[in-house]
Amino acid sequence: MGSDKEQGVLVTGGAGFIGSHTVVELLERNVPVIVIDNMTNATASKDEEELPPVLQRIKKIVNPQQGEKLHFIKGSFGDVELLEKIFTKYAISAVIHFGGFKAVGESKELPMMYYSNNVGGTLKLIQSMQKHNVTNMIFSSSATVYSAPGPDDLPLSEKSLTGSCTCPYASTKFFIENILRDLCYADKNWTVISLRYFNPVGAHASGEIGEDPKGIPNNLMPFIAQVAVKRREHLNIYGNDYQTKDGTGVRDYVHVVDLAKGHTAALDVLPKKNGFHTYNLGTGIGTSVLEMLKYFGEVVGRELPYKICDRRPGDLAVMYCDASLAEKELGWTATKSVKEMCEDLWKFQSKNPNGYLP
Ligand code: UFG
Repeated sequence: MGSDKEQGVLVTGGAGFIGSHTVVELLERNVPVIVIDNMTNATASKDEEELPPVLQRIKKIVNPQQGEKLHFIKGSFGDVELLEKIFTKYAISAVIHFGGFKAVGESKELPMMYYSNNVGGTLKLIQSMQKHNVTNMIFSSSATVYSAPGPDDLPLSEKSLTGSCTCPYASTKFFIENILRDLCYADKNWTVISLRYFNPVGAHASGEIGEDPKGIPNNLMPFIAQVAVKRREHLNIYGNDYQTKDGTGVRDYVHVVDLAKGHTAALDVLPKKNGFHTYNLGTGIGTSVLEMLKYFGEVVGRELPYKICDRRPGDLAVMYCDASLAEKELGWTATKSVKEMCEDLWKFQSKNPNGYLP
């Protein structure tokens, strides 16, 4: 006898940057989505009763029938009582786990907050899933799990060395991956796909949703975008004395919509897989800070101001990946260029100079 519960995919942190873009991809494939987000890092509506602005905008992007398949629950992914209600109400086929704190600097100051929320919360989520026989997960991991690569270690493949993380945030991703690997080893019912993102940037091509960091952006592209709308005077470039093409740091930037599609690709293969699997999601192409600034300036139509500063502690010179395993096993490749990443980010930022709330 089939269950009369509504089926769906549970998306933790679904109001965040990567989560929200993935929710769009899921809804566009008619997959019902239950978003759980405690809104500590996402913009809430002024009226508590209303959906967060990002989810309201998602409803504008997808068609009305798809929009009806979006459910929002405000709360933490580690709240056992809330999870109990969700797993009782919905027939959850898989969990896509984006939720978690993600600021490198903050994690060094507040390590216990990071371990408690990211690792502790994930343990509770896993236990609730286990209780309700939900044994499929896609985990939001990061390139940061890799040990600092030397020049001969690039591009980074899934077999590259992990661990020796440079901050508690990175350690939480590394520890959670290990927990999930052990879990899959011990209990053959589980299938977990851990997606190691390189540098997600850009925004949805509609200009409706994008990255809306609270306070001063930590990451390069949101900072450049705020310089472009004159919310910030200039970009501080953290060092131009690295062993790279122009001395500035080189990263593997990947369009957030490509990344979101990596999750739907992973969801498609989940039923055919078993155990724990990791995949790099990136383009395999390295771009420097100065190059990114130049590309963004070209899209905006003027040169953007910058100053060269000291290196940021913990930064690596170069990171880029070999994403061929994702292509082979998930049928996924990044398709969007750095130019499109800049164009789409500019569309969002110029339409929403102050983010989701005017
Ligand atoms: N950068 C600047 N100025 C800024 C911000 C960044 O010059 O204001 C430079 C950095 O030095 C680096 C590049 O731009 O060379 C990219 O920096 P980001 O902060 O955008 O990205 P990171 O590669 O440092 O960070 C990423 C993820 C983190 C993850 C980290 C660790 O965003 O989640 O990788 O590998 F923890």
